[in-house]
Amino acid sequence: MIPREELLTMAREVAQQAHCPYSHFRVGAAVVAGGKTFAGVNIEISSYGLTLCAERSALAAAISAGAGPITQVAVACIDVPQGAPIQERTPCGACRQWLADLAPDALIYIDGDTRDFTIRDLLPYAFGFQAKSI
Ligand code: THU
Repeated sequence: MIPREELLTMAREVAQQAHCPYSHFRVGAAVVAGGKTFAGVNIEISSYGLTLCAERSALAAAISAGAGPITQVAVACIDVPQGAPIQERTPCGACRQWLADLAPDALIYIDGDTRDFTIRDLLPYAFGFQAKSI
């Protein structure tokens, strides 16, 4: 286990690389998979709907490295004022589905909140699809 604060620090640091020229809302995510850490940021492009969130960016990095089960996820929205409601810093719906599929047992840390969440807290009754071999 990577200490919670260490992973949150990594998420805050990587958030400075966010590419968000439209929203100016910088988000960083750091995940632990197979004992290694992977990071991602939100990436916005001119066709706004194709924006990639930080969480999916970090999950994609871990999966691309073939790094093994994802055990911890930290998310930091560094432009949110201190004390802002948790809703302003939790993963969006699309990212929750990614987490449900790719990090079902991970502990999830949200910068500015002291709780340890799992995706079952954030997305109860998540859709799941059992892949069949053909
Ligand atoms: N964003 C994330 O990176 N993660 C989330 O879960 C919520 C939203 C990004 C998308 C967009 O670049 C910016 O935050 C504002 O919505």
